Amino acid sequence: MSRLLEIKNLDVSFEQEQGLARALRGVDFLLSSGETHALVGESGSGKTVTSMAIMGLLPIPPGKINQGEILFQGKNLLMLTESEKRILRGKEIGMIFQEPAKYLNPAYKIGEQIAETLMTHFQTDRKAATQQALEFLHLVGLGKNKRVLGSYPHELSGGMKQRAMIAMAICCHPALLIADEPTTALDVTLQLQILRLIHRLKRKFTMGILFISHDLGVVNEISDKISVIYAGKIVESATKNQLFENPLHPYTKLLLLSIPDAAKRGTRLRVIPGTVPDAEHIPAGCSFHPRCPLAEDICHGEIPASIDYDSGHFAACHFVGKKWIDSSK
Ligand SMILES: Nc1ncnc2c1ncn2[C@@H]1O[C@H](COP(=O)(O)OP(=O)(O)OP(=O)(O)O)[C@@H](O)[C@H]1O
Ligand SMILES: [Mg+2]
Repeated sequence: MSRLLEIKNLDVSFEQEQGLARALRGVDFLLSSGETHALVGESGSGKTVTSMAIMGLLPIPPGKINQGEILFQGKNLLMLTESEKRILRGKEIGMIFQEPAKYLNPAYKIGEQIAETLMTHFQTDRKAATQQALEFLHLVGLGKNKRVLGSYPHELSGGMKQRAMIAMAICCHPALLIADEPTTALDVTLQLQILRLIHRLKRKFTMGILFISHDLGVVNEISDKISVIYAGKIVESATKNQLFENPLHPYTKLLLLSIPDAAKRGTRLRVIPGTVPDAEHIPAGCSFHPRCPLAEDICHGEIPASIDYDSGHFAACHFVGKKWIDSSK
């Protein structure tokens, strides 16, 4: 599999009155073509800032990219001009969000919006683009009748809006789809349907997917690889099986123990004490140390390096292989 998206040492901050918010502090991960790579972490860990940086949509200022590279098919996206970024967005990289309302324009019918996207990126006339829009709506399960095509976003249910947004995101056959918490606002049955739809479309179009979620249970349904992000840094990265069978970082382990399913298998459901630190107040050393049951003096002072422990299974903790969290407590 070839390298589709490679993020190297990405460092992003926001200048604000309350001080400098260090949103990303050297994020690294690799997404190969055709792979679903999940970026998982609690609220405020830097998931959306990562996706916005890839899309070239960070507000700059107050945002600032201090260092790093975002290589998409080998090209550094941080070097592109605004017009090159606009061509890339939608055509090469599609994006779906938690809130379709932010993405769909309330003033235009769904069919018009999909057709417009197609006409922007391809030399297609309106009639052909509308026909293709209908086919994409069919593909995402919105039927072949013209009702959805001629509807305004507010006339659709939450699940239908989500499907319409997916149709718009994939209509130009992007090589990469970024899905930022696409199912978080939906009820459980709909969540599963949307996850299966995304998975089916990935196969049909051989897309790579960056799937962003705070929920390891959801990620388990869909991903090939997982990177766990904490306070703007990747703390563990591995294939799904490596991560679920042998989590190396205490944060990952605690995230896994907080999935209700894991509790059913005989261990107690855990709640991770405390919260992700504000980006203005990142603790020194390992940023997880104030919440970590394994922390010792070294964790307060030294940032642990990310080390490959098992053919691509990276973790950044001083105690990998030396200390373990007792999952029975
Ligand atoms: N425009 C901004 N100005 C200042 N700080 C920001 C800005 N955008 C994001 N941040 C900060 O960057 C950090 C990461 O935010 P981000 O939105 O990426 O989190 P997230 O992982 O997507 O969380 P959630 O799960 O709640 O969506 C947070 O501390 C946030 O407050
Ligand atoms: Mg977010």
